[in-house]
Amino acid sequence: MDLFQGDILTYHADPEEPARESAYSFFPDGILAVDDGRIVYCGKKENVPFSTENHPIHDYSGQLIMAGFVDTHIHYPQIGMIASYGEQLLEWLQRYAFPEEMKFADRAYAAMMAREFTNELFRNGTTTALVFSTVHPGSADALFEEAMKREMCLLTGKILMDRNAPEPLTDTPESAYHESRKLIEKWHGKGRLRYAVTPRFAITSSREQLEAAGRLLKEFPDVYLQTHLSENPREITSVAELFPESGGYLDVYDRYGLAGPKSVFAHCVHLTDDEFRVMKERDAAIACCPCSNLFLGSGLFDFEKAFSHGIRTGLGTDVGGGNSFSVLMNLNEAYKVAQLRGQQLNPIRAFYLATLGGARALSLEQEIGTLNPGNYADFIILNPRTTPLMKLRMKQATTLTDTLFTLMMMGDDRCVTGTWVNGKRVKQPAS
Ligand code: GUN
Ligand code: ZN
Repeated sequence: MDLFQGDILTYHADPEEPARESAYSFFPDGILAVDDGRIVYCGKKENVPFSTENHPIHDYSGQLIMAGFVDTHIHYPQIGMIASYGEQLLEWLQRYAFPEEMKFADRAYAAMMAREFTNELFRNGTTTALVFSTVHPGSADALFEEAMKREMCLLTGKILMDRNAPEPLTDTPESAYHESRKLIEKWHGKGRLRYAVTPRFAITSSREQLEAAGRLLKEFPDVYLQTHLSENPREITSVAELFPESGGYLDVYDRYGLAGPKSVFAHCVHLTDDEFRVMKERDAAIACCPCSNLFLGSGLFDFEKAFSHGIRTGLGTDVGGGNSFSVLMNLNEAYKVAQLRGQQLNPIRAFYLATLGGARALSLEQEIGTLNPGNYADFIILNPRTTPLMKLRMKQATTLTDTLFTLMMMGDDRCVTGTWVNGKRVKQPAS
């Protein structure tokens, strides 16, 4: 058994109101106990229900201990071209993303990038991610293999894309169906891995292919669906032209049975009120991607609308459309996006979004996203005094809210003192 001492924060529910203290527990100088990959205790030091004598305490006093971050939308094949200059979504895909994704036909390249990718997740304190691979089934195999080795909870799928893309990156409705099916049978539910059927977005799938995706979801009802939705104005116009029979962007997916409780739609920046209502009716989830929406000039996510409709919402870094793996930096941008809309993103709620909110968006809250006993020991330690300026700022932080706000506005991967997955340390000091 391993014991960790520090300021422990764990959520039980969405702190819709900042004052709703029942939504989370905070144990200053508390104890987290981990045994055989699972959390066995989380609470006050004086209430530990077993003798701690034979177990050394890892002392992180003054630092925060919380569940690992959950990234609900990210592209592992785009890490090589992250931070590519000057374009918005549709041109950016053609000029930067597609050429890089072609390289993933090579299994060795995919395996190397999968390794770099998981390392970077852990360096940033992310312990679970819902990930786009490329159209090549081998790219999903490479990432699943790496995640299996790292004992992490990870979800991915091969992209489905049969039009409006370079020929080497396209499949067909038939090959998309058969290749996805094979991957589902091979990986879904193996260890901590899950499969997500992954039509890239409406522009790059024919009706026949969306129908094939719907068939897969019917045949494997607990498999996930991930795609992009309503990210960029020119994208939305193009979807309307390609699907004149549809009643809007979400309806394109909904007609084929792709909107359900296991569906995660990335972006949702320009949803109409009707679409928010349908999202709620279908119990579909949103991956909100602030760094990406600013970097690609896509628009400002409406937090209040998403929250007021009660839609399960998580954070997505959307690397490489997003320019950072850091969930802290994404919270930083999320706060500013809310400001530009005249809204506030309270830090207590922000860290909920990054942990339990993400886990709920992925229907995985019984396993991850909290420090509840019985959950996987996927957790992080964050140092709010990482830089000289943060140290100075923290002298004036007297509340949990202010400490969290300092972390989200000034923090990045350097603040992640350590990351543990399945009870094992996967980020060492100063890595
Ligand atoms: N829409 C379709 N493909 C992509 C992608 O790779 N990144 C982002 N941000 N949006 C997309
Ligand atoms: Zn994306």
